Amino acid sequence: MPAFFFWDETMTDYLKVNLANWNDRAAIHIKDEAGGYRVKEFLEGADNLHGIEDREIGDVRGKRIAHLQCHFGIDTLCLARRGASCVGLDFSPVAITAARDLQKQTGLDASFVEGNVYDARALIEGNFDMVYVTWGAIGWLPDVVRWAKVMSSLLKPGGTLYLLEGHPTLMALNEKTPNLEHGFDWRTPPNAPIVEDEATTYTGDTTPVTATTTNSWIHPLSDIINAVIGAGMRLDYLHEHEELAWQFASIMVPIEGKRRMWILPEGFPKLPLAFSLQATKN
Ligand SMILES: C[S@@+](CC[C@H](N)C(=O)[O-])C[C@H]1O[C@@H](n2cnc3c(N)ncnc32)[C@H](O)[C@@H]1O
Repeated sequence: MPAFFFWDETMTDYLKVNLANWNDRAAIHIKDEAGGYRVKEFLEGADNLHGIEDREIGDVRGKRIAHLQCHFGIDTLCLARRGASCVGLDFSPVAITAARDLQKQTGLDASFVEGNVYDARALIEGNFDMVYVTWGAIGWLPDVVRWAKVMSSLLKPGGTLYLLEGHPTLMALNEKTPNLEHGFDWRTPPNAPIVEDEATTYTGDTTPVTATTTNSWIHPLSDIINAVIGAGMRLDYLHEHEELAWQFASIMVPIEGKRRMWILPEGFPKLPLAFSLQATKN
């Protein structure tokens, strides 16, 4: 990590660019024409969580859970369907409006807050048994040290942070090259994000996105773990996985018999595609 880092207007501008993109994507994702978010199945009672988080989070009945970067709330509501009392936060008003609508339709024990994840402590009341962050969240954030402090501040003593994410080793590869060539530095400085332009979103839906530019960051495992420890949490485990919840590159293939999970094709040298960690607040 850089020796010091000031949050300034540039950081806010990066996030504003991302917000415009996420509002567009949320509007497409909630329609779920590509079917990847399983909105219809969810409304019919399905549980959309994947095998990894299902195995790792255990029984959540009776727990208070804060779900950060909750998108339009399907996973938040699935946690509530498992018996937790949930608050979801996301900075996209389009996503939060959709999440509140799904909550009304299902009557599950969840509420939704619109705001920047860095402001979560000020925006969400109370302390939580679990802070839940999964699949495609921290790569949108420039500063993982500040992020970890906010996560810790939301937990009661003994409460746990659960983080499940794309692996930084994979994120440094260029998904547009046929053999996944090394494409990016392993660590992205906060003030020099990876700037990309994508005409459509990742679900396979071909609806054009209007705000096409995004800023993202790769955070090495050591930065994440040190940030978590530095924010007053104890690492319980770190796991690495050979499967991912989205098709990062076109060479990846769906896992037979599993919903919405992807692996590298047979014969391609194996890599960690995702990691998960649990940390307990001291
Ligand atoms: C890939 S989605 C995460 C999906 C999540 N796994 C879920 O439960 O569906 C990334 C989310 O992060 C949100 N996001 C990105 N930057 C944010 C920020 N600074 N503060 C709050 N939300 C943010 C986006 O609006 C988007 O909904």
